[in-house]
Amino acid sequence: MIITKATAIANSNTALVKYWGKQDEQLIIPMNNSISLTVDSLSTITTVDFSESYDEDLFILNKKIQSDTPKKRVQKHLDIIRNIANVELNANVVSENNFPTAAGLASSASGFAALTAAASSALGLNMNPKELSMLSRRGSGSSCRSFYSGFVEWIKSDDNNESYAIQLADENWFDIRDLVIVFKKHNRKYTTREAMKISKKTSPLYDARLEIVEDNLVKVRKAIKERDFSLLGQTAEADCLLMHSIALTSNPSQLFWTAETLGMIKFVQELREGGLESYYTIDTGTNMHILTKPEFSDEICAILRKIPYITNIIECKPGPGVQIIKDDLF
Ligand code: DP6
Repeated sequence: MIITKATAIANSNTALVKYWGKQDEQLIIPMNNSISLTVDSLSTITTVDFSESYDEDLFILNKKIQSDTPKKRVQKHLDIIRNIANVELNANVVSENNFPTAAGLASSASGFAALTAAASSALGLNMNPKELSMLSRRGSGSSCRSFYSGFVEWIKSDDNNESYAIQLADENWFDIRDLVIVFKKHNRKYTTREAMKISKKTSPLYDARLEIVEDNLVKVRKAIKERDFSLLGQTAEADCLLMHSIALTSNPSQLFWTAETLGMIKFVQELREGGLESYYTIDTGTNMHILTKPEFSDEICAILRKIPYITNIIECKPGPGVQIIKDDLF
C-alpha cells in the first residue's frame, strides 16, 4: 500500500541574530547568516494527505478553512514539493498551533517546518535535515532553523544548494529561558516579508548592519560555546535594536513597536538593574521575548503577571527540532 499521509510537529525559533533581507526573493536566500534558539513551548502539528480523491488543495489552520494569502503560500510550497516528488496529487493540509495565532505570535517558522516535513514524508521523499531545511527555507526563511534542536545557524550562500541550517549546540547544552510576552493584537500595514524587502531597498543603514552582523555572529557563537549568558543576551538585544533601526529608517518607515513594547523595554532594563539579568529581543509581531537565566524565570513571570497589558506569558526552554509523529490530525 502506498501511504501518502504523514504528520509532523515543529517548534518555533527565536532569532538571536536576525535574518532581515534577502539576496534572492524567489529562492529565499538571506543577505546574512542568522542564529536562533529553537524553543519547546510554541509548536505546530501538521498532517498532510495527498490523494486523487481531492478536487483541490485544502488548508485548515486551527479548525478554520484558509483562503487567500495563507492558502496560496501553502499551495506554492506544496507545488515545490510535488515537483520534486513528481506527483500532481492535491492535498488536504490540517494544522494546529498550540498557541493562539490570533494573539499575533509569528507562526510561519513552525508552520512551514511542519508542513515541509509532513508533505515530504507523505510523498516518501526521505530527506535528511539539511535537505529539509533547504526546502523549508523556500516556504519561509526562518523555518529552516526549526529543523534542529537548541541553537541553530542559517548559512547564507550565493548557491541555492548551500543555504541551509546547521546546529551549533543541542537543547541540553545551555539552559536559558525565553519568556514570550504577548500583547493585544494591533493591525500592521505590511507583512514581515514586505517590510524586510522595503528595508533592504530603502534604509540608509542597511549596508552598515551587514558589517556589524558579522561581529554579532562571532559573539553569539562564542557565547553559546562558552555558555556565556551575558554575552548572548547583550548581543541578541543589540542585534534586535539594529534590525529595528533599519526598519524604522526605511521608507515607508516600519514601526513594529507599540507603547507596550516601549514599556517592556524599560521594564527589562530595570530588571537588569535590580539584579535579575535579562535581555529582550523583538521580531515583527505583537510579542516580545525576554531572555533570562532559569533561576530568575519564576520571579520575573510573577512580576509580569501583574502587568495589565500583557495578555499571555509563555515560558520556553531550548527545545527539540522537527519530528514525524504517528498521531494524524485527521
Ligand atoms: C524578524 O522567515 O517570516 O523574525 O522568509 O519572508 O517568510 P520570509 O520571512 P520570515 O522572517 C523572519 C524575520 C524575523 C527575524 C528572524 O526570524 O530571523
